[in-house]
Amino acid sequence: MSTFSSRCVLAIFTMAAFTAFQIFFLRNRATSIVVPGIVEQNNLQKKLPSALIIGVRKGGTRALLDGIALHPLVRIVRHETHFFDINYGKGIDWYAEQMPSVGENEVVIEKTPAYFTNLKTPARVFQMNPGMKIVLIVRHPTYRAISDYTQVFYNKLELNKALPNLEKEAFTFWNGTQVLDDTYKPIRNSLYDIHISNWLKFFPLENFLILNGDVFRGNPYSELQKLESFLGLEHQIDHSQLVFDKRKKFFCFKKTTRIRCLGESKGRKHRPVSQQVFQNISQLLAPHNERFFSLINRTFLWD
Ligand code: A3P
Repeated sequence: MSTFSSRCVLAIFTMAAFTAFQIFFLRNRATSIVVPGIVEQNNLQKKLPSALIIGVRKGGTRALLDGIALHPLVRIVRHETHFFDINYGKGIDWYAEQMPSVGENEVVIEKTPAYFTNLKTPARVFQMNPGMKIVLIVRHPTYRAISDYTQVFYNKLELNKALPNLEKEAFTFWNGTQVLDDTYKPIRNSLYDIHISNWLKFFPLENFLILNGDVFRGNPYSELQKLESFLGLEHQIDHSQLVFDKRKKFFCFKKTTRIRCLGESKGRKHRPVSQQVFQNISQLLAPHNERFFSLINRTFLWD
């Protein structure tokens, strides 16, 4: 090859490499939620979520995800990826693969309730996207703990394991005084103040939408409207899409003609707990609730 033609080949190669670099760089800079390198057909592309439903477990997270999926511009990740708590080592490409392929204006939401209580998650989310919109749906923490305990009870029953008793698990003694056993997860998950303060080390309150799970259960429409606004979307979910199921005593969700209700493990009868145990747990949770209220500048009626 002559010197002239080898220079031409080199120049063409350099230009191509530079253009490829520019495309990669600009795509990353334009929006941090588009996944570089993963572009699919028909103008659909993989997008990392711009909002996460982080919990709280048993707060109504699944119903909230199914509810917001009624919006035409919202695409959800149906399964819990557990990326930021368990699967982080699999890398961002693995996380991107879990995402739906979406159009440019569509918003992706993922929910994994374990994120709220996992110590490492806030820093990891912040590192990926400091502008992440964080949705937390909370519920009366004593009922939440009983719901959590009920779920653990039935999971153990299915696996033929020893069955827990809330009265024994919920409390321990410290200097001769009865206190909550914060190593028991159904109790620990209800210490909202501890978990939110871990998140507030990384994100300001403006990044959060905190929804009331007790309101949402009976009136999903009002809380879904708040979520639509928080996501920067027009209100497009209609009352007619929220269909009350008399047998289940819960709302179900109608996207097209199909009505989707949650499975039997959601809204099942709680394990019986004595009034005394209920009161003891509530009393010991009260200071945690107060601290939670002051951290989020808002109160809930959780007497
Ligand atoms: P219970 O089983 O204690 O009634 P999560 O999806 O976060 O695990 O939350 C489960 C809770 O969602 C259920 O708790 C139930 O009360 C609540 N929930 C709210 N709306 C619901 C709906 N439309 N269908 C079923 N459960 C719903």
